Amino acid sequence: MTPASSNTPGFRIVDRLGQKPQPDTAAEIAAGLLSEPASISPKYFYDALGCRLFQAICELPEYYVTRTEAAIFEAHRGEIARVAGTRRQLVDLGAGDCHKASCWFPALDPCRYVAVDVARGIVEAALAEFAAEMPGTEFIGVIDDFSRTLDLGGVLGPEATTFFYPGSSIGNFTPDEATHFLAQVRKHCDAPGSGLLIGVDLVKDLETLERAYDDATGVTAAFNKNVLNHVNRLAGTGFDPGMFGHVALFNTVDSRIEMHLEAAADCAVTVAGRSRRFARGERIHTENSYKYTPASFAALLKRAGFGTISRWTDARGWFGVFFGAP
Ligand SMILES: C[S@@+](CC[C@H](N)C(=O)[O-])C[C@H]1O[C@@H](n2cnc3c(N)ncnc32)[C@H](O)[C@@H]1O
Repeated sequence: MTPASSNTPGFRIVDRLGQKPQPDTAAEIAAGLLSEPASISPKYFYDALGCRLFQAICELPEYYVTRTEAAIFEAHRGEIARVAGTRRQLVDLGAGDCHKASCWFPALDPCRYVAVDVARGIVEAALAEFAAEMPGTEFIGVIDDFSRTLDLGGVLGPEATTFFYPGSSIGNFTPDEATHFLAQVRKHCDAPGSGLLIGVDLVKDLETLERAYDDATGVTAAFNKNVLNHVNRLAGTGFDPGMFGHVALFNTVDSRIEMHLEAAADCAVTVAGRSRRFARGERIHTENSYKYTPASFAALLKRAGFGTISRWTDARGWFGVFFGAP
């Protein structure tokens, strides 16, 4: 059993998942599987294997997202750092292995780095590494599910804060949920000089979009199917991931990539103590990844309370980096 809060030389872990009574995870998963169509939240992708598979996805030739965002950061690092400011507390939302934020450490020189993620193991390992290299910066890991609430109480100091939300993870929320979530971020941006640095995937041709989520090597398919292993452990469902196929498609009406798992044959699993049957061809919806235009995302930032917006993009206009300040 891991402690709710622990101190290791150089960094501190605040485990909200261990501290607070959590809504019943098994009940949440059951509700999704019993709904029509069935669904599983994308936050359940990230067990230890899921975190590794996501790192592999970022290396795929088809997955332009990580490379394109990194190239924009590289090309405009000085200008972005001037807009965001230095010696802020840097809050990394969905930090994962903290690699992307660490590329900003020299330019932003954060006084405090706060990595927020549901996945404790990957964050803990990364903080141990970076804290040893940067004794002048305070390192804190907050283990929490921010889709429920963004709780940074007792973690942030009075300094200005730069929130960092890269990789177009914002696309996993519906536009209304994204507005609500970013409005919560905005509430932590009252100290002058605070703001949000966010990466957003943009609408582009259908083939490029769909290939990015259905690579020839099958890594994204493995990532998608692995959610069933995680759900089996969390909710005792007894899925056989081999019985499901990976489906990725662009829904042009809602401007989103959808990932599904499709039953290859009739099968049954256990949900909340009862049998849940899946007919051959029935799908479980596992992820949405909304794609924006520069104008539609700027409008969303405004709705969330960010009145001053700067933005950068690549030559092909495939990806957008935005800085929103109140
Ligand atoms: C797609 S990865 C991105 C990792 C890294 N920021 C990057 O861009 O490469 C998403 C990360 O967000 C975390 N995550 C997903 N849903 C979350 C939630 N509801 N609350 C906290 N962390 C979440 C996952 O554990 C994972 O590490």
